[in-house]
Amino acid sequence: MWKQWKTLVPYLRPHRRAFVIAMLCGAAAGAASGFGAPFFMQRVFAGFFEDTGAEHSFGYQIFIASLLPGIFFVRGVSLYANQYLLNRVGQSVLLRLRKDLFDHLQRLHLGFFERERSGDIVARLAADTTQIQNTVIILIKEGVLQPFIFLGGLGFLIFLSAREAEIGFLLLLFAIVPLMIVPVRLIGRHLRRRGRQMQDAFGDVSEAISENLRAAAEVRAFNREEHESARFEARLQAYFAYAMKMTKYYIMTQPLMEIVAVTVLSTAFLYAYNQGLGSSVFLAMGGGLYFTVDAVKRLARALNEWQRTEGAFARVRQVMDAEPMIQDPKDPVEPGAAEGAVTFRGVSFTYGEQTALHNIDLSIEGGTVCALVGPSGAGKSTFSKLILRFYDPTVGSILLDGHDLRSMQLADLRERIAYVPQNPTLFNDTVANNIRLGREDATDAEVEAAARAAHAHDFIEALPEGYATNVGENAGRLSGGQRQRLALARAFLRSAPVLILDEATSALDSASEEKIRDALRRLIRGRTVLIVAHRFSTIELAERILVFEGGRIVADGNRDEVLTHPVFRELSDKQ
Ligand SMILES: Nc1ncnc2c1ncn2[C@@H]1O[C@H](COP(=O)(O)OP(=O)(O)OP(=O)(O)O)[C@@H](O)[C@H]1O
Ligand SMILES: [Mg+2]
Repeated sequence: MWKQWKTLVPYLRPHRRAFVIAMLCGAAAGAASGFGAPFFMQRVFAGFFEDTGAEHSFGYQIFIASLLPGIFFVRGVSLYANQYLLNRVGQSVLLRLRKDLFDHLQRLHLGFFERERSGDIVARLAADTTQIQNTVIILIKEGVLQPFIFLGGLGFLIFLSAREAEIGFLLLLFAIVPLMIVPVRLIGRHLRRRGRQMQDAFGDVSEAISENLRAAAEVRAFNREEHESARFEARLQAYFAYAMKMTKYYIMTQPLMEIVAVTVLSTAFLYAYNQGLGSSVFLAMGGGLYFTVDAVKRLARALNEWQRTEGAFARVRQVMDAEPMIQDPKDPVEPGAAEGAVTFRGVSFTYGEQTALHNIDLSIEGGTVCALVGPSGAGKSTFSKLILRFYDPTVGSILLDGHDLRSMQLADLRERIAYVPQNPTLFNDTVANNIRLGREDATDAEVEAAARAAHAHDFIEALPEGYATNVGENAGRLSGGQRQRLALARAFLRSAPVLILDEATSALDSASEEKIRDALRRLIRGRTVLIVAHRFSTIELAERILVFEGGRIVADGNRDEVLTHPVFRELSDKQ
C-alpha cells in the first residue's frame, strides 16, 4: 500500500498549506468532539443531576447550557473548513492526475492505441481517476481527523483514569483495537480483487459504448441493434455482478466493527456496574471510549476504501507506466534547412508478428515526386508512416537529409512533413480551424488559398456559416470527398519540404481530382512528394514509381521502366 501511496505524494505536495490548515481545523473538530462533549456530559451530570443539593445561579446554568452549542459550533465550523479544504485537495489531485494521464497519452506511440481499447482508456481517465479521488479525500480526511479524535478521546480517558484511579476502561480500549483490525484484514483481500474486477468490467462497458457510437451506421445497416443491446446488457450485468461482489464485502466492515465496538461498551457497562462507578464517571468514560473506538472504526473504513481502490490505481498506473516507444533522442541533431531527401537503409518492419516491409533499400532525392503503387496490403501506408516515425524500423534505418530519424527531435521531423493519412480525422470544430491544423498561425487568406488549392473553397462557401461552420464529430456533416479535401487543404497550408499523400484523392470524382492535380502540380515544385494512389491519372505527376508487393519494392523507376513489370501491368490493366 505504501508503495502505491508514495506515487500520489507528488500530487499532494503542492497542497501542503491547505493540508496544514485542514489538519488544524481537524484538530479543533477532533478536540471538540473527543474531549469537549464528554467533558460537558460530566459537568451536567455531576454538577446538576447527581449533586441535587447544589444551587446554581441562572447565569451559570446558561453558561452550562450554552456549552454544548458552543462545542458543536466550534466543531461545525472547523469540520466545514476541514472538509472544504480536503475536497479541494481531492479535486486538485483528480485534475492533475487526469492531466498527466492525458499528457502521457499524447506521448505514446501509435502501436499503443492499436493494442489498447479506446473505450477502456476513457474509463481509466474518467472513472478510475474519480474512484482514486474519492479515496484520496476519504483517506486524508479520516487520516488527518481521526487520529486527533482518537488522541483526544484517549487523553480524556487517561485523564479520567488517573483522577478516578480506574484503569479498566483504558484496558478495554487496548483490547478492542486489535480486535477491530481483524475484519479489515480479512475483508481487504476480497476488496482488492473485486475492486479490480469491477473497474475492468466498467472499462468493458465504456468500450461497448464507444464502439457502438463509432459504428452507428453499421449497426443500422446490418440490423445489429438487438445484438448490440444484448452485448451491452451482458457487459452491464457483468459489471453489476462484480459491483455486488465488491459491495458484499465493502459494507460488511461497518456492522462487524460496530458489533465488536458495542460488545466492548456492554462489557464496560458490566464492569462499571460491578465496580460501583457513578453514572457521571461511567458516562464520561463511556463517552471517551465511544469516540476513540469510533475513530478506530473510521480509520479502518478508510483503509478498506483504499483497498477497494487499488484496482483503479493499478489500471491508471498501467497507462502511466506504458513506455513511449517513440521518443526524442537525448542529444538531438540540428537538422537545418530541409531538402527532403529520404533514404531507407535495409529497412524491415514488423507489426507484432505481421511483417509489413522486407529489407527496403532506396534513396529518394530531395524534390522528387514519387508514386507508390501496388495491391492492397502491400505495405504502401506502412512505408509512409515510417517516414513520419510513427514506428521505428524493426531492422535498418531511415534518414531524412542524411540524419537518422531517431537522431532528430520528433517535432523537427514532423514539422518537415505534410501528411494526409488514408483515413483522415477531422476535429469537431470549424472548417477554418480544421484546416489550420496544417499551420496554426496561418491567416484567413492563407487558409482560403489552401482551401482553393484543395478544391474545397466552393463547397465551404456554400455551407451555412462558410469557414466558421462546425463540421460535427469527425466531420459527420460533410461528404467523404469534402472531408478528404479539407484534409488535403491542411497539407497544402503546411507547405512542408516533404509531402505524403496516402490515397488523398481516392474519394473524389475525376473532375475534382483533375482540379486538385493542377493545384498539386504547382504545389509539388521543389518538394519531395510521395503519393500513394491507385488512379493512373495521379501517377502521371510522378517522375518515379515504386511498385510494392508483399512488403517489397518489386519495381522502381520511371513510368516506362516499371511498365513491363507484371505487378504494375496487372494494376494498370484493370483501369
Ligand atoms: N497497425 C497494424 N497492425 C498490424 N498489422 C498491420 C497494421 N497496419 C497494417 N498492417 C498490416 O501490414 C500490411 C501492410 O499494410 P499497409 O497498410 O501498409 O498496406 P497498403 O499497401 O497501404 O494497403 P492499402 O492499399 O489497402 O491501403 C498488411 O498486411 C496489414 O494487414
Ligand atoms: Mg494504405
